[in-house]
Amino acid sequence: MENIKTENKDGILIITVDRPKVLNALNAQTIAEIGEAFHVARFDEAVKAVILTGAGEKAFVAGADINELAQCNAITGKTTAEKGQRIFIAIERFPKPVIAAVNGFALGGGCELALACHIRIASENAKLGLPEVTLGIIPGYGGTQRMARLLGKGKALELILSGDRIDASEAERIGLVNKVVPLDQLMQTCEELARRIMSRGPLAVTAAIEAVMSGSEMPFEEGQFLEATLFGLLCATEDTKEGMKAFIEKRAAQFKGA
Ligand code: COA
Repeated sequence: MENIKTENKDGILIITVDRPKVLNALNAQTIAEIGEAFHVARFDEAVKAVILTGAGEKAFVAGADINELAQCNAITGKTTAEKGQRIFIAIERFPKPVIAAVNGFALGGGCELALACHIRIASENAKLGLPEVTLGIIPGYGGTQRMARLLGKGKALELILSGDRIDASEAERIGLVNKVVPLDQLMQTCEELARRIMSRGPLAVTAAIEAVMSGSEMPFEEGQFLEATLFGLLCATEDTKEGMKAFIEKRAAQFKGA
């Protein structure tokens, strides 16, 4: 891995996009490395949660690498978008919680990367936006779809058509990020949240991610069917028995992921 750093901190895989000279812009290799890191982490039992962030104090990810994008034609432009989309879907459907620690500019592909994560925590200096139209293109890594689903079409269109950058507090107000904290508390806040989630029943956490992320893409009735099926499956697990027993015995549950 040349463009990302990974560190397993007691079960939390911290993936840092590390191209500070270009504000962590995503070239094809960086996207492929992110995809590889998630692919390996998916089946690594030592990974219980992921935090995604950018190197330095200025940027999470300042977008797709414009030097590379400038070379695209109709064919390579489409495959570039498709490759990124596939990896961002793998992040969105990742069976363990993925938190974006948005530590500065999250523009274009960087904003789309944060949108693909399950939860977004931003530092006070963060600036978010989809400025693609200022370059004569549109978001290509799922941004038009995820932004509209998260914020509603009106707000999404305002941001996508204007290309405006918004600050962290506005992003929190409209629901683009979950929470804003001072930069020096960002990683600690994300790690505390990850650890809180990791203390819950891991099978239930995975099922909840699937119910929300897959279920919300289905018609309501099918989403409810998926929810009921996952609910039923969880009822057959040791963890569910332990969770309820622990409640009755007034002690903390010891989940085993079984
Ligand atoms: N792709 C390639 N290089 C990028 C980049 C990107 N998306 N974003 C920043 N860089 C590079 C700059 O070209 C500059 O390189 P240089 O030092 O060789 O000139 C370096 O990163 C620092 O950026 P700079 O523009 O000097 O910093 P700034 O603080 O003045 O502005 C931004 C920061 C984020 C506002 C500005 O860099 C920017 O607008 N970037 C592009 C954002 C964008 O349009 N993203 C969507 C792409 S689809």
